[in-house]
Amino acid sequence: MVLFKSLPRFPRLFPVLLLLVVIVTYAASRLDPARKSTSGALRGFADRVAKLSARPWSRVGAGDTAEEAHRRAWELARATQYAGTGARVQRFLEKALRGEPFTVAAIGGSVSKGRGLTPPKNAPQDADGEIHGATTLYSRENLHFLVFDWLNATFPNAGNRFVNGAQGGVGAGYFAWCFKEHIPTDVDLVLVELGINDLNHLRVVAKYELLVRSVLELDSAPAIVNIETFTTLFHELISSSAMHNDVLAYYDIPSLSIRDVLLPRLMADPDVQMPRWFRTGGDVSLGDDKVREWGGVPVDLMHISAKGHGLAAGLIINYLSTQLALVAPMTAKGHFGRFSAAHLRKTLERVYDVPDTWLTQSFDPTELPERRAPVCRSMNSAKLHNRVSGADDTPDGDGDQVRGLVLHPSSHGWEPWAWHEKHYLVARTPGALAVFDFVIAQPLPATHDDDDEVIEDPMDVYSAFEGTPTDGRAASARRDMAGLKEQPASRQEMRTRRRQRRSSTFRKEHSGAGDGGTVAIGFQRSANYGLGSVHCWVDEDRAAGRRLDGWWEIKERNMGIVTEVATGLQPGRHRLQCELLADTLDPLKRHEFRLFAIVHN
Ligand SMILES: *[C@@H]1O[C@H](CO)[C@@H](O)[C@H](O)[C@H]1NC(C)=O
Repeated sequence: MVLFKSLPRFPRLFPVLLLLVVIVTYAASRLDPARKSTSGALRGFADRVAKLSARPWSRVGAGDTAEEAHRRAWELARATQYAGTGARVQRFLEKALRGEPFTVAAIGGSVSKGRGLTPPKNAPQDADGEIHGATTLYSRENLHFLVFDWLNATFPNAGNRFVNGAQGGVGAGYFAWCFKEHIPTDVDLVLVELGINDLNHLRVVAKYELLVRSVLELDSAPAIVNIETFTTLFHELISSSAMHNDVLAYYDIPSLSIRDVLLPRLMADPDVQMPRWFRTGGDVSLGDDKVREWGGVPVDLMHISAKGHGLAAGLIINYLSTQLALVAPMTAKGHFGRFSAAHLRKTLERVYDVPDTWLTQSFDPTELPERRAPVCRSMNSAKLHNRVSGADDTPDGDGDQVRGLVLHPSSHGWEPWAWHEKHYLVARTPGALAVFDFVIAQPLPATHDDDDEVIEDPMDVYSAFEGTPTDGRAASARRDMAGLKEQPASRQEMRTRRRQRRSSTFRKEHSGAGDGGTVAIGFQRSANYGLGSVHCWVDEDRAAGRRLDGWWEIKERNMGIVTEVATGLQPGRHRLQCELLADTLDPLKRHEFRLFAIVHN
């Protein structure tokens, strides 16, 4: 924002500047035939922007009265939990404006899965004719589908693609490790919805950070837009969404929430409004722990209704529309005006960067943290992998690639089992043993950022200091300022410092020291399903293993949880073993254990 404010504003000069750009580009294209495409691209861009403004529905609110515009702005402001620069979103919209095909994907829980929505006539199928996941993933009412549908209508291209990777009953703990099993890695825009899918616990911050960081670090460097729903089911309104906010700010990810838009309405008239915005009908009935009665109607308080999906999608579309106006603003004449914001941003590549340091790790500018690619084997993934799990998934010649979580043949007592579209490996007899081989890879280079841009002093843009009265304090502040201004390194110095920093990280990695790898399992937790416990360990170190309990006391929540078994694992092949225990926390002494993922890095 500071950046954009500091821009000189030349609204009157703009037509002149534009003319100049066109003339210069045209002249350049005449002189240098290789640049002809640039001029063509510029014209293509202008044509597309002109077409865009001809479609009233492509710009949300274009036909608003002043009062409607005011209300729209008010609601969007109430819904905005974090706005940020919008840099990656704008870059995505620029790509769409250029007419290039794009991929949108969603990561989320059962709300995103579309629980309770009307399934589409034709749910997308795999090559083998199977439908993976819920049919409501691609419901015409699903909030993610609605957002994609608007983008696809605004920027039509037969190559536009939408993949809904939502999974019910799991949260950031699962997706941090497993998102690549559910969304394509060449994605351009990722919509994230996980506000009620984790426990309201500080541990969620690190899991959520691992997820958004890993998504931002994909080679396609996608934009993320976060959307939070909420539930009135628990004894406090605050939810794991509170654990997301500082992570979203740190990574400059725009975040919207329906809560503060809806709550005043729900408070004013709950009997009418609760059944409107939350799910009713179908199999929603009293006796289900997430259902309460409002206005004589059983209401599922964990899942918003189709109308709730419409609102969430509307907020995202409104947001995208405001970003689009920054990338390709309309003037009264209906074509684009200043696009200097986007133009300036191009010279500042670091607005797209992922910070070198983690929010949930200590600050240390001399030793950058190791990067480790998360690897996941999930019963709910359609992807094929090698039998021995590793980050390097090139077929190893040991046999066919396999789907899901495949145990070593020395395992016994575990079998596949499914409840609707949720798949598990299940053991019921104490002593049952699950054996799983995996390879811990060498860590990746600590940073992939090769940009040598000098980071200017932020005080350069606070020109107000120049004019302050010359009392003692201001003068000394100015001296400090002057000192600060001399601090930023020259390009050459920056390069040297970064090289030194990198080589120290390089030494650390190749001495075999470092933090080591982690292995964790994903399993079902519930108070209702009669779940037992396992003891898990890595390699021969049975005593250093860990007990994991399927049963917990939280009646309203049946959740898939990912819990670490061992950390500090050195690169190379390892063996994870989990044995079903005779001891169980279930009051009725049942033993069933439901395993759905094994993850490592
Ligand atoms: C995008 O819109 C076009 C119509 O313009 C439609 O044919 C196509 O199926 C849509 N893409 C997807 C993935 O739904």
